[in-house]
Amino acid sequence: MRPTRPIVLGNWKMHGLRAPGVALARAVAAGAGPAATLGVFPPATILHAVAEALAGSTVLVGGQDCHHASQGAYTGSVSAAMLADAGATWTLLGHSERRHGLGEDDPLIAAKARAAIAAGLGVVICVGETEAEYVAGATLERLAAQVEGSIPADLPADRLIVAYEPVWAIGTGRTPADAEIARAHAHLRALLGRRLAGGEQVPLLYGGSVKSGNAGAILATANVDGALVGGASLDAGEFLAIAAAGARV
Ligand code: PGA
Repeated sequence: MRPTRPIVLGNWKMHGLRAPGVALARAVAAGAGPAATLGVFPPATILHAVAEALAGSTVLVGGQDCHHASQGAYTGSVSAAMLADAGATWTLLGHSERRHGLGEDDPLIAAKARAAIAAGLGVVICVGETEAEYVAGATLERLAAQVEGSIPADLPADRLIVAYEPVWAIGTGRTPADAEIARAHAHLRALLGRRLAGGEQVPLLYGGSVKSGNAGAILATANVDGALVGGASLDAGEFLAIAAAGARV
């Protein structure tokens, strides 16, 4: 079911040693109210400590990526079962810093999604156009290709969240116009409805330079069910202010 309150997730990326990470998680939990569903995605090394600190709270905990195999000779990699064992219930997949920074393609992301679901996790799959694609007017086409390529058609819709993150908006302070976000999200809603059983109910998050100052308008946009927040999620006050900005009265 589409959520009745916004889902606001914090992607900590490669930030966070154990003590400050646990302190950040505790501050988020202390400020979590009924207005939004909150989640944090810390680095794998502190996942367990953060999950322990959040035990008994309503704040979700997830990994930032997982390997596509369940185990094996993959030096340096983390499997979905390892994330779950450390206390994660969700994982991000297909973030642009992995698609574009590390060359991950749609079939690999689809394989990771299958592995994560098999390990009992929910998946937040990120999609979004590059700046060149945006300028060329190819956003909707790109989203269709990424949905088709990286979201397996048999994925259980109730364990999927899709984040629309224009690559050019991530960490840049630039965001699409509200109407462009609405258009992309309406497109994703229709694509997912055709692709998955119950797919029209999949929560759709916007991500890319979300701050407390723009969150109210973004979270009020049609078909936006929440936000995936990077930089601003490293400050508990700012992260909580984003969630508060999305409160539906
Ligand atoms: P940003 O990152 O909020 O720092 O732009 C968003 C993301 O990468 O998920």
